[in-house]
Amino acid sequence: MHASAPLPSTDEDAQKLKIVIVGHVDHGKSTLIGRLLFDTHSLPDGKIEQIQKACAAEGMDFEYAFLLDALLEEQEQNITIDTTQIQFRTAARNYVIVDAPGHKEFLKNMITGAASADAAVVLLDAREGLQEQTRRHGYLLSLLGVKQVLVAVNKMDLVDFSQETFTNLERDYRAFLEPYDIRPLAFIPMSAKHGHNIVVPSEKMTWFSGDTLLAALDHLRQPPAPIEKPLRFVVQDIYRFDARRLIVGRIESGQFSVGDEIEFYPGEKKSKIKSIEVWPTTEKQPTQAQAGQSVAITLEEQIFVERGHIGAHPEHGPVEGTTFSARVFWLADQPLTVGQSYTLKLATQQVEARLERVDRLMDSATLAPLVETRPQIARNEVAELVFRTRRPLAFDNSDEVQVTGRFVVVTEGRIGGGGVIFGAQYDRAANVARSAHLSWTDDPVSPEARIDHFGHRGAVLWLTGLSGSGKSTLAVALQARLFRQGIAVTLLDGDNLRHGLNANLGFSVADRKENIRRAAEAAKLLAEAGLVVITSLISPFEADRQNAAEICRQAGIPFAEVYVSTPLEICEARDPKSLYKKARAGEIKDFTGIDSPYEPPTTPVLELRTDLLSKEQSLEHLLKLATKLSHRDTLPGEEAAGFSI
Ligand code: ADX
Repeated sequence: MHASAPLPSTDEDAQKLKIVIVGHVDHGKSTLIGRLLFDTHSLPDGKIEQIQKACAAEGMDFEYAFLLDALLEEQEQNITIDTTQIQFRTAARNYVIVDAPGHKEFLKNMITGAASADAAVVLLDAREGLQEQTRRHGYLLSLLGVKQVLVAVNKMDLVDFSQETFTNLERDYRAFLEPYDIRPLAFIPMSAKHGHNIVVPSEKMTWFSGDTLLAALDHLRQPPAPIEKPLRFVVQDIYRFDARRLIVGRIESGQFSVGDEIEFYPGEKKSKIKSIEVWPTTEKQPTQAQAGQSVAITLEEQIFVERGHIGAHPEHGPVEGTTFSARVFWLADQPLTVGQSYTLKLATQQVEARLERVDRLMDSATLAPLVETRPQIARNEVAELVFRTRRPLAFDNSDEVQVTGRFVVVTEGRIGGGGVIFGAQYDRAANVARSAHLSWTDDPVSPEARIDHFGHRGAVLWLTGLSGSGKSTLAVALQARLFRQGIAVTLLDGDNLRHGLNANLGFSVADRKENIRRAAEAAKLLAEAGLVVITSLISPFEADRQNAAEICRQAGIPFAEVYVSTPLEICEARDPKSLYKKARAGEIKDFTGIDSPYEPPTTPVLELRTDLLSKEQSLEHLLKLATKLSHRDTLPGEEAAGFSI
């Protein structure tokens, strides 16, 4: 493939710079847009006079914001589109504002609107410091990958055009954006209402020598259509003309030529491109097309392709799978909840998906990690999480290809939030295998259905160690942590079992063997029901522990032995139940470590030296192991593969 001169594009939008104007509702967004339209002569003839007249008739002062209202009203009568698009032009180029004020669900609009913006103008009110919403907007821009940012500090007339106010705001906002890798190209002090620094430099702010807003806009880069990236042809529709089937779509990245092999995802069906067609039909149809163009193609073979499919060159396709990690910004009142189903829209794909897991929660205003982990994301929170889809989905990491790396989450027919994908593994073979194993099944109580229900598989964490080593303390704390993370977890404690199920057993070698066998069988049953089971028994004999592992593994339950390794002297010094004292005094017979042996595990998956580690450190290791063990992709028999602390 060679880089040729751009083909005649059929997609006019590609020629325009798409900007999103974000700001607090009261910061003067309508006024600014009205001003831009007026000052760039982008209004229909007679519009301004008409509005001036109407204002006079009502006895109202003329406001630039009215221009926008009037325009929007007019548009609404003609067309019905989700996002109102407002256009204006300068001598340098055409602009389209991909988000309009006046919408009730302002932030929601930003997520959908800003998703394809080339640049953003963040509007601040000079009278107010940084507000939570402004901070949130900043984060949102980084989430959506909008890198060209201008900051317009509006209403400077209301702060006496104070340079100090302006520089303070600039300093604070820059500092806030820094960690998100957003460096605004310019901060502009202005007044939309009075026309300062919009088109004409303000005579009231001679201390400011930077560009006016319009000049700054004209200095933005038109981002090149990403033709160097792998091909992503997003299928919008299939048209049938006579015997021909035209696959219509937009090339979001890369390029293709007639004769190229093209593969459609999900499903991975291949054919060769027979022709490329653009409209209006020209005499000679192109032999090549590239990112930014909407075209139709015909294929040499008849393969099944439909809206939602993504065409790519074989070997360079998107990831196809049923799970992915994403960063999501949640906006709906109802929390995004583990275990619940949502509709995801990604490019033209639409698929049902379940929130499987929350890995990290952050406050969207401060982006501080929230220490508590819970299986719900509340309004205005940001989280790193894992989704599982009902059908395989084709997607990319958002830093790889933006359009196929972003999605919106629909709940109850409305957009509840938006997200970007990260951590997708471009390992095709593994992916296909995984998606084949793990898509949803319709048997409501099959093992897979249980995994779907809980969002993880059942597993057994077997804690062994001397009396007083800390097994129970760690087990109790681990259970609490896992429970808070939304994991279905339970605890089998040796002492407790000996009150019921094992009440007829003592501490002879034979009784301990039976004690462990029963505990293992019980753990297996609970894990089969879908629970993560933590056991806490001395289990002093290697053979008994191996038997326990065998009981679980035979049932396909991941099992990991954890050695809570605390030197006898320390256990004895702790002696929480004064049992060591009694054993030394001969009041208790066959006491482990005193007159009954403890066989340390030879190959535990995890050894916790509680004399060297803090309780918190031990817990972290246990959490990591429990998460790995109960992960739905964990294969029984390989449950501990690669686990290290
Ligand atoms: S195991 O050896 O069969 O695994 P298990 O964990 O169920 O033992 O029970 C151990 C608990 O029983 C100890 O924590 C202690 O409180 C109590 N216990 C009473 N007698 C003994 C004994 N002779 N040896 C060990 N633990 C004992």
